[in-house]
Amino acid sequence: MSDKIIIFDTTLRDGEQSPGCAMSLAQKKRMAKALAALGVDVIEAGFAAASPDDFKAVASIAQEVKGPTICALARCHDNDIREAGRALEGAEKKRIHVFIATSPLHREHKLKMSKAQVIERAVAGVRLARTFCDDVEFSCEDATRTEPDFLAQVVEAAIEAGATTINIPDTVGYTTPTEMFDCIRRLKTQVPNIDQAILSTHCHNDLGLAVANSLAAVEAGARQVECTLNGIGERAGNCALEEVVMAIKTRANHFGINTAIRTEQLLPSSRLLSAITGSVVPRNKAIIGDNAFAHASGIHQHGMLSHPETYEIMKPQSIGRVDTSLVLGKHSGRHALVDKITELGFDATAEDMDRIFADFKALADRKKHISDADIEALVVGQASTGPWQLAQMQVTSGTGDSIASAAVVLLGPDGSEYREAATGDGPVDAAFRAIERATGMEVHLEGLSVNSISEGIDAQGEAQVRVRFAGQAIHGRGISTDIVAASVSAFMDVINRISRQMAKAS
Ligand code: KIV
Ligand code: ZN
Repeated sequence: MSDKIIIFDTTLRDGEQSPGCAMSLAQKKRMAKALAALGVDVIEAGFAAASPDDFKAVASIAQEVKGPTICALARCHDNDIREAGRALEGAEKKRIHVFIATSPLHREHKLKMSKAQVIERAVAGVRLARTFCDDVEFSCEDATRTEPDFLAQVVEAAIEAGATTINIPDTVGYTTPTEMFDCIRRLKTQVPNIDQAILSTHCHNDLGLAVANSLAAVEAGARQVECTLNGIGERAGNCALEEVVMAIKTRANHFGINTAIRTEQLLPSSRLLSAITGSVVPRNKAIIGDNAFAHASGIHQHGMLSHPETYEIMKPQSIGRVDTSLVLGKHSGRHALVDKITELGFDATAEDMDRIFADFKALADRKKHISDADIEALVVGQASTGPWQLAQMQVTSGTGDSIASAAVVLLGPDGSEYREAATGDGPVDAAFRAIERATGMEVHLEGLSVNSISEGIDAQGEAQVRVRFAGQAIHGRGISTDIVAASVSAFMDVINRISRQMAKAS
């Protein structure tokens, strides 16, 4: 058995499907390029038949992103499979991923199909997909709640029909590591043609077991892991790519396997995704959280000074966390900035550099020393890309009986100016109300937090806003040395995400 684990990234499909993580076409392409630079083997670019926008996203990624295999998801329906095949036409390496639910609950209540009908549909789906490409993956949705003998029958039939990868999803995050191990082992021993396909796992994190279940599948013989950056995905998310990859690397002595991931790109890729989705990683998140390598207690700090391995099982540099002495400021030129960006693991095009350098100069006028965190914030940029833009804002606030007020001028999707003013419980509240009036969008604010992303009195603040709109949670993010401006920028990010979603739905 090979000791290479195929990393199948579904950030742009299962991840993007999760509340608050919708991405525009440009953002998906930027993320797909970052995933290719990270070294993932397969990028699941989307569900081509879901909408014209999804089709376009898969087709553009297939055309433009070279290196990984580009995959499109399809139900075992003719139209879905044909759309997937069409969207993948420009890909250097392509895969169609077809799925059908196999568990009794799904068969009886969702599909209203018998076991025989499910097998028939699975076989037809795989056969049709094979007419578009040789690389076909078949998933048994809700596999972990499927009768083991029936699961083995479906898998055998799908391989017989031409599936080259068989994926065993724990769709509802219900299974446990030992159950997952047994499931994969059973398939390996019970299915006569199992050697003709690669076994894969796709675990959701409802019980917080997605990474453990994926590793158990690998120990039982699975050779592909499906995962997402930052673990984003439906409900509690999917298996986190960075966690499973670093577990395999750090415990190579235990697992005896490897991946092709360039682990120094993990943190830059994770931060790019956070900036794009506005969904911020908790500080204590394994591998990529801000505290993942922070040692606070005196005993730990003493141990670390004596020998880093006393309390550190991975080197921060191995995931792209760099601490450098090159400090940038007002007089630094474009070259020094490019060097620093490269050192931090980012890749900026000449076009990006024009914007980044202009923002850098503006920041350097306000801050003496520009830290690595500031540079990172500049590179990933403000996530918001319109259609609404804040052209001007004026806020007043005070103590005692004074009433906070805000006046805003926005440029709308039609290019016109929208002017509004409002009062509120503080300058941020007043500004949010003025923006709601100007855009005609009313949202329910569920949370606002501002954290410092660099040190000192002139530190940049990162604001995170969470709102509910039409029953959906939407996140926004904004950065500035001024906390009111950071909060307003995060709120504009939310307004723009909602506007783009509404435009997509209409
Ligand atoms: O969770 C799941 O079952 C899926 C399949 C489509 C692979 O996402
Ligand atoms: Zn899933």
